[in-house]
Amino acid sequence: MAILITGGAGYIGSHTVKYFIEQNEEIIIVDNLQSGYVESILNSQLYNIDIRDKESLDKVFKKHNIEAVIHFAANSLVGESMDKPYEYYHNNVYGMICLLDIMKENSVDKIVFSSTAATYGEPKNIPILEDDETNPTNTYGETKLAMEKMMKWFDLAYGIKYVSLRYFNASGAHEDSDIGEAHNPETHLIPLILQVPLGKRDKIFMFGDDYSTKDGTCVRDYIHVMDLSSAHYLALKYLRKNNNSDIFNLGNGSGYSVKEVIETARKVTGHSIPAEVKPRRSGDPATLIASSRKAAQILGWKPKYSSLEKIMTDAWNWHNNNPEGYKSTEKI
Ligand code: UFG
Repeated sequence: MAILITGGAGYIGSHTVKYFIEQNEEIIIVDNLQSGYVESILNSQLYNIDIRDKESLDKVFKKHNIEAVIHFAANSLVGESMDKPYEYYHNNVYGMICLLDIMKENSVDKIVFSSTAATYGEPKNIPILEDDETNPTNTYGETKLAMEKMMKWFDLAYGIKYVSLRYFNASGAHEDSDIGEAHNPETHLIPLILQVPLGKRDKIFMFGDDYSTKDGTCVRDYIHVMDLSSAHYLALKYLRKNNNSDIFNLGNGSGYSVKEVIETARKVTGHSIPAEVKPRRSGDPATLIASSRKAAQILGWKPKYSSLEKIMTDAWNWHNNNPEGYKSTEKI
């Protein structure tokens, strides 16, 4: 039986596809290529389909014997989501309704969901636990929370079991340097910082230095994309074994400020990387750090690539070899 990976041509999706293939799983990818790249999927079967196109999606389910879905396909930028709520609700929330309906129609009863720390909003406790309050401060987090809740009710009504993985800050690139992080436009901190030593920008802007954190800049929990890939596989194994749904945080449990991330990039690249303070970016919580104890205990997950220097080194190797990101804007 095959595993359907939606958004499998995207950043985290493509790393997960590679990992699943290494585990000898049969993979089918559905991606509308709005932010994914054909080159990132390394010889897997790709359908260029939007998950909101239910008719086409249904054909994929009818053609292949799908055991489970790993669902990445979504809009995922915190800043952009504040300006484009319609697009986020439409792609994320309506897309999820379409996907779950097609799963139900085709009796597929397992889904691993790409969720986010942005579901919590401004946390009351650090590190954040899975049963802490969820009160998103941005549209992106609100849509992901709505998608999680939708899965809860589809589970109760139709028995579709889910594992929701709330990632903290996905970062780094595959250590083979064949796939990595490429967004257009880029908004994420680490790839933007690395544009300075690549000669693509003069300096990095730090959004706010008046937060109540160790140095005034926002603190985040950076987690290597290869550690996220392995967590998706453990989540699938969990669903294969247990007739149960659950939610897990995925992070390293340690936080780095924007200033510390820039400092690490200076060390790894040997470049001075000028930085300048700008006003706060809307929707940004001050500190997000995960407790991943539950994922360790129940899924048996343990990050292997947890140092920020390793994350930065792998990101730098990929960007250095691919300064323009993926070459194609090809649609197939
Ligand atoms: N930042 C800057 N300058 C930049 C870009 C970012 O100072 O040029 C800051 C941001 O304000 C934030 C931090 O760097 O404080 C990290 O920003 P990113 O845009 O890299 O990541 P976010 O924390 O906003 O969001 C990421 C994912 C989300 C996820 C979230 C969970 O993009 O999908 O992590 O922690 F929900």
